[in-house]
Amino acid sequence: MAIPRLAFGPEDGLLVLSGAGLSAESGIPTFRDANGLWKRHRIEDVATPEGFAGDPMLVWRYYSQRRSAVRGCEPNAGHRCLAALEETLGDRLLIVTQNVDGLHQRAGSTRVIEIHGNLFRTRCSACSRESFDDNDDHTDEVPRCNKCRHGLLRPDVVWFSEALDSRHYVQIGQFFSRRWKRLHYLAVGTSGVVYPAAGLVQQARLARAQTWAVNLEEPDNVDEFDFFVKGRATERLPWLLRTDE
Ligand code: OAD
Repeated sequence: MAIPRLAFGPEDGLLVLSGAGLSAESGIPTFRDANGLWKRHRIEDVATPEGFAGDPMLVWRYYSQRRSAVRGCEPNAGHRCLAALEETLGDRLLIVTQNVDGLHQRAGSTRVIEIHGNLFRTRCSACSRESFDDNDDHTDEVPRCNKCRHGLLRPDVVWFSEALDSRHYVQIGQFFSRRWKRLHYLAVGTSGVVYPAAGLVQQARLARAQTWAVNLEEPDNVDEFDFFVKGRATERLPWLLRTDE
């Protein structure tokens, strides 16, 4: 079947779910590919509250290493084409990203929901202070909260077994339920394994969206999509979204 390209009328909307594959061509490793992060690190050690409680220094070394790797990377043509599309669509485009690298914003996107947090933000594991920007590497000592004075600071990323921010569900739900003439849903660079993000496509279908997946290989939940576009995000996104014309 020939794959149509996306076109937007004045009452049409697009929700994009992005995953690690979108940043792969910026040089940031994915999680589950051959040399992915979960092949080199144990999820239990570096991405769970129990891992942090057991060895917070190990966790900070891991995230400090990721911070310094991401600092040396730039947004790619995939991020840039979504930022360019926002100039046309404005608030009719919403990006929901599982990525914690901040590359969407560095490319110029402003309507971004970071459902798994951000690598360059830190929060207290004990008190309710707001998370804050933190560009430092913490490789020698686990930082402590200067507000409650005893809590260990931790990266503001979502770990396994932790809930997503309920405000994000509300924002996503509100976007889906607007009065669209046509709504499109596009998942890019994500394996479709991790929920609740992988279930957004079902929510999109309930909202009568046409659903698209752009990925190097078939995602786990490929059957949920109307169209699967196989290939690299940097090539396929500009083509699909017509920003290459
Ligand atoms: P994965 O590593 O699970 O999947 C990345 C997907 O991107 C794979 O299906 C690849 O085939 C595809 N891919 C790789 N390079 C690509 C490219 N250049 N263009 C297009 N696709 C490409 O990453 P995610 O699905 O993002 O969560 O993982 C979801 C969550 O699992 C992450 O946010 C993280 C992880 O555990 C937390 O840490 C909470």
